[in-house]
Amino acid sequence: METWDAIRARRNVRQYRPDPVSEADLDRIVDAARRAPSAGNNQPWDFVVVTDKAQLKQLSTVWMGAAHIADAPAAIALIIAKAVDDEHAKLLDPSDVKAVIQFDLGQAMAAMTIAAADLGIGTGHTWVDDKDKARAILGVPDDHIVCYLLAVGYPADRPLRPIRKPDRCPLAEVMHREHW
Ligand SMILES: Cc1cc2nc3c(=O)[nH]c(=O)nc-3n(C[C@H](O)[C@H](O)[C@H](O)COP(=O)(O)O)c2cc1C
Repeated sequence: METWDAIRARRNVRQYRPDPVSEADLDRIVDAARRAPSAGNNQPWDFVVVTDKAQLKQLSTVWMGAAHIADAPAAIALIIAKAVDDEHAKLLDPSDVKAVIQFDLGQAMAAMTIAAADLGIGTGHTWVDDKDKARAILGVPDDHIVCYLLAVGYPADRPLRPIRKPDRCPLAEVMHREHW
């Protein structure tokens, strides 16, 4: 797909065909996150790729909006360290450092969703509420936080195609020129 088509085709997919996503495609999707920009090139992330059915089922219980993870052929967990990076801490307020790290994580997440869409693969975001449970399921060390999960799989409803009329505010409403 062209980049512009992949951007327009991406949508949150919550129902998946049972077909597995190949290891090469999962590698490419995570590689897209690895290549995402981050403040000071801090790269505050780690990723755990899960394809084990029992683990996916367990992960689907970490938040009320995570049910779709149970039926996905794969999921990717986005993980950050609890400790704030020293270089960031020297420059910014602690709350700003946290915001910047979350911003970086969002860029990594967005890169994965577009890279997946480019391959015709759907993705479904998930917030993680029970972070201790997610950490235990994935064997993540105590000094790290599992922030988000991304379900990955071929859409069961219809293939990804550029969406002509997305459920979004009109461009003219959110885009300002020269002044607000
Ligand atoms: C940070 C973030 C967290 C989200 N968390 C969840 C979630 O926990 N469960 C869920 O089903 N969808 C979740 N979503 C998906 C959004 O609801 C979805 O992207 C939004 O409704 C727009 O739909 P679209 O992505 O199909 O355009 C999340 C999206 C983002 C960006």
